[in-house]
Amino acid sequence: MTSLFFPPSCHPTRVSIIGAGKVGGTLAQRIAESNVANVVLLDVVEGLPQGVALDLMQAGSVEGHDRKIQGTNDYADTAGSDVVVITAGRPRTPGMSRSDLIETNAPIVAKAAAEAMAYSPDAVFLIVTNPLDVMTYIAWQVTKLAPFRIMGMAGVLDSARFQTFIAMELNVSVADVSATVMGSHGDLMVPLPRYSTVNGIPITELLDEATIHRLIDRTRNGGAEIVGLLKTGGAYYAPASSIRMMVESILLNRRRLLPTSAYLQGEYGMKDIFLGVPCWLGCRGVERVLELPLTDDERHALETCAASVREGIEKADSILASTAGLKF
Ligand code: NAI
Ligand code: 2OP
Repeated sequence: MTSLFFPPSCHPTRVSIIGAGKVGGTLAQRIAESNVANVVLLDVVEGLPQGVALDLMQAGSVEGHDRKIQGTNDYADTAGSDVVVITAGRPRTPGMSRSDLIETNAPIVAKAAAEAMAYSPDAVFLIVTNPLDVMTYIAWQVTKLAPFRIMGMAGVLDSARFQTFIAMELNVSVADVSATVMGSHGDLMVPLPRYSTVNGIPITELLDEATIHRLIDRTRNGGAEIVGLLKTGGAYYAPASSIRMMVESILLNRRRLLPTSAYLQGEYGMKDIFLGVPCWLGCRGVERVLELPLTDDERHALETCAASVREGIEKADSILASTAGLKF
């Protein structure tokens, strides 16, 4: 008899999301509804990932997709994932900087990365928890993954914010705006007006310097502006969309050029650090880092970011060294 079903060897693409909070839950929705992959949503809180997953499965019957979304508290359910996204950890509250989260989030990310790695040793890992560039380094130290298989998401979000503010200022379609932001995810980030365009025209030809500086400041404070408005946590719609874009480029091997917190091995004159730089993302992860020509000021701004990330890594390492069971 001919089977109407897929043979048992069929393995649908699977993304595991560790942390089923605002970002994790919204990301699960974006991935399922854009038909990119099946999703496993894991959290330490019992019932939370199961509830979110069930709600999203029921939405699927209306949205018209057949993607499976499974909620769990058990890492065994994440086994064999193609991509693991880590969003577990605390978000900021008003007045907090991202680096104030190191103490709480470093042990959470270290443990989540180790557990997920044990079940999905072939996955590409994408870190989201803040402070982003520091947490990505911690996850890399714990998993000992080849650097191209682990990266952080922040630059796509920061660029999306810059693009939005440029489009709002010029009153043009955001579809025509493409912006580049490099560096660390924080106040020191490096938006690059020379490499930000409206349909190929650099914004330096369309806006005066004072206006560009105002838009850059708003981009740098983009996360804090939303924390200030929401008061109980940070942004999650634009972050989830940004992660979805990176996951899709990896799973579909689209090789999109996206700002990514990637491990630098001499690029931009830096080594042994994760920092936001333009990368081609494909099925292996970070396929290649693009080295853009930078002015002295831009290079100096990037070095300032690196110094602050290194400070955060030192702090995280000393916290982890004193946390039982989390030494590596
Ligand atoms: P949230 O508080 O809504 O969700 C965090 C979830 O992590 C909670 O459900 C919590 O139970 C879970 N969690 C805590 N410890 C865990 C553990 N050991 N294992 C598994 N799950 C655990 O926070 P939200 O808004 O989803 O943000 C999550 C993180 O992502 C924060 O650190 C936030 O700052 C960061 N973030 C980073 C962005 C970026 O651009 N890189 C953008 C947006 C958020
Ligand atoms: C943001 O920039 C919270 O880092 C996150 O919105």
